[in-house]
Amino acid sequence: MTKAGFQTRAVHGGEKPDPATGASAPNLAMSTTFALDEPAGFSINDFEGELPYIYTRWGNPTVRMLEAKLAALEEAQDCVAFASGMAATTALLLTALDAGDHLVISDVNYPGTAEFARGALTERGVVVTPVDTSDLAAVAAALRPETKMIWAETPANPILRLADVHAIAALAKRHGTLLAVDSTFATPAALRPIELGADFVVHSLTKYIGGHGDALGGAVLGATEALEPLRTRALVHLGGVLSPFNAWLIARGAATLPIRMKAHEQGALKVAAFLEAHPAVPRVNYPGLKSHPQHALAARQMDNFSGMLSFQAVGGEGLARRMAKELRTIHFAVSLGHHRSLIYWIATDAMMESSYRLTGEALGRYREFAGDGLFRLSVGLEDSEDICEDLDRVLGGKPGA
Ligand SMILES: Cc1ncc(COP(=O)(O)O)c(C=O)c1O
Repeated sequence: MTKAGFQTRAVHGGEKPDPATGASAPNLAMSTTFALDEPAGFSINDFEGELPYIYTRWGNPTVRMLEAKLAALEEAQDCVAFASGMAATTALLLTALDAGDHLVISDVNYPGTAEFARGALTERGVVVTPVDTSDLAAVAAALRPETKMIWAETPANPILRLADVHAIAALAKRHGTLLAVDSTFATPAALRPIELGADFVVHSLTKYIGGHGDALGGAVLGATEALEPLRTRALVHLGGVLSPFNAWLIARGAATLPIRMKAHEQGALKVAAFLEAHPAVPRVNYPGLKSHPQHALAARQMDNFSGMLSFQAVGGEGLARRMAKELRTIHFAVSLGHHRSLIYWIATDAMMESSYRLTGEALGRYREFAGDGLFRLSVGLEDSEDICEDLDRVLGGKPGA
């Protein structure tokens, strides 16, 4: 399927008509266990290579169908799906890193990832160095002989700062270090980190790939051999497996990912331009805007600017409170990548407290994007005029108008 076009792979990847019934849509196999025609052992350690279906925590046909679709989209050899993006993230970090290993990680990323890296991973003896991954020299300077992995998130949540995946991958190769990229904001419609030299791609499937806000999921993609510890130790022993029902919903969403991403980008370009021209908005962060400090990298590295943007606005937290009550089209809610537009307020002090507690220059760089706080907007699939009208009403301070 990897030779077919991206849209064709999204529709057909991992799927085939049911050989017994001819059903064209994928079956949903909710069974937790599978009838065997001979004894097969009861420990994952009894098996090597491709596993037969035995127990859904070890593998399930509907989850496998989704994994094959995602691998086709990312042009990865293989994929392991998990119960959430965080389950995928922690599975990769816990299986790849042991006490004494060094992790260089983006100093701005999804706060759950940051909290885990600074908390449980550090307590486990992994040495964690947060670094500005938009600065290649800073990444190079942070590397040590014991650096086992570099972790980038691009575009980074919530400031939309980018990392040059090709350049970091080349650096990682020279240093003999693994590179993992959380590509949730980009999706394979915009960025395929493995093509650019990354070893692992991580996704929260809860966002664009599922696309409808009704199923949590996560995935790690990479080479089959490199994913082996994830399929066995992480999936079977840590047990954060994706429900087959969620896999089925997410696969249905993934089939329309390419056309949804085009529409998200189209809407976001219009909303970003509207916000940039608004007198109550001093700064908009959107890789598709010429004003983005890394617009040239975005244009080179990404096939689509995605639908995520963030902006500073006069009124800050007070405005956020008003938005929660007064927005009509946009939901004031966490999460992103859904067909509904979602907005959320992220105060800089709170972000720092829950992530890497940046100080000095690093905090200054964060504040360039975020000021004292920013609104993270996931532009949905509504008409962009309605999204802009909703924002204009609250930004213009005309409650109820
Ligand atoms: C970039 C990024 N990675 C990972 C996650 C975690 O995903 P999940 O909520 O599916 O666990 C999120 C959630 O917002 C995210 O934004």
